[in-house]
Amino acid sequence: MEAREISWSFFHRCRSMGGMINVSVLVTLLLGVCAQALEMSVGKIHTLEVVNGSSALMPCTYASCIGIKNLYFNWTYNRTETLCEGVVPMEGIEPHVSVWNERVDFVGSSRTNNVSIILRNITFDDQGDYICYGKNPKEKNRNHSAILTLIVVDQLREVDNTLTTIITSVVGGVIGLLILIMILKSVILLVLRKVAEKNKECLVSSGNDNTENGLSGSKADNKATPKA
Ligand SMILES: *[C@@H]1O[C@H](CO)[C@@H](O)[C@H](O)[C@H]1NC(C)=O
Ligand SMILES: *[C@@H]1O[C@H](CO)[C@@H](O)[C@H](O)[C@H]1NC(C)=O
Ligand SMILES: *[C@@H]1O[C@H](CO)[C@@H](O)[C@H](O)[C@H]1NC(C)=O
Ligand SMILES: *[C@@H]1O[C@H](CO)[C@@H](O)[C@H](O)[C@H]1NC(C)=O
Repeated sequence: MEAREISWSFFHRCRSMGGMINVSVLVTLLLGVCAQALEMSVGKIHTLEVVNGSSALMPCTYASCIGIKNLYFNWTYNRTETLCEGVVPMEGIEPHVSVWNERVDFVGSSRTNNVSIILRNITFDDQGDYICYGKNPKEKNRNHSAILTLIVVDQLREVDNTLTTIITSVVGGVIGLLILIMILKSVILLVLRKVAEKNKECLVSSGNDNTENGLSGSKADNKATPKA
């Protein structure tokens, strides 16, 4: 009974403070549940490697758990040049888009929360950071963005070829060196054996004539070891 009275009095107090507080508490709770209200995403891959002269899809999607209204978005290059910008009036309504670069096409769609662009005829000068930026007036214009880094390369096959050449020459060089070492080793061993045989011959000729060759050889070896 007491607990119920306390909770009732608490409820009354809240009510007496007016509807405003209840609404703000509710909004805070909602925002707490979805901490990142608006999220811009370029996907899992943040670095794009493209061949000089080709085109690239620069993906970007948005997500918002409190919904969007007049969502402003843009794409900038190296934080200076605005490539394209637009406003999505509501969820599912296609945006009004302005494209400021002749090599850029807007290919997004509000049906898939997609604000992707395509950059055509890419040159080495296009390398750098591409930022997909979004601002939802619903959440006090907080800024959100995602970065995509573009790297431009020469023909991919040529890159592979240089790499292959480097690997081949390194491996070839190592194998060549090993072969050279082995040849040197056998030559040195051959010379050493020749020298040893010469020594043996001298020892045998000066040794006892009665003993067999094998025995005399082992004797000669025994004698030669302490000398060496
Ligand atoms: C890059 O591609 C363009 C067009 O295909 C070509 O004119 C240019 O020479 C290329 N640049 C390099 C450094 O290969
Ligand atoms: C891109 O290159 C193609 C052929 O290389 C050319 O026809 C086209 O006009 C170029 N587009 C732009 C926007 O420069
Ligand atoms: C966005 O739209 C483009 C063009 O229709 C498509 O190629 C791309 O896969 C889409 N991206 C996502 C994440 O849906
Ligand atoms: C969002 O960015 C714009 C321009 O980049 C800036 O003027 C504005 O102050 C930023 N807002 C917040 C809340 O950071």
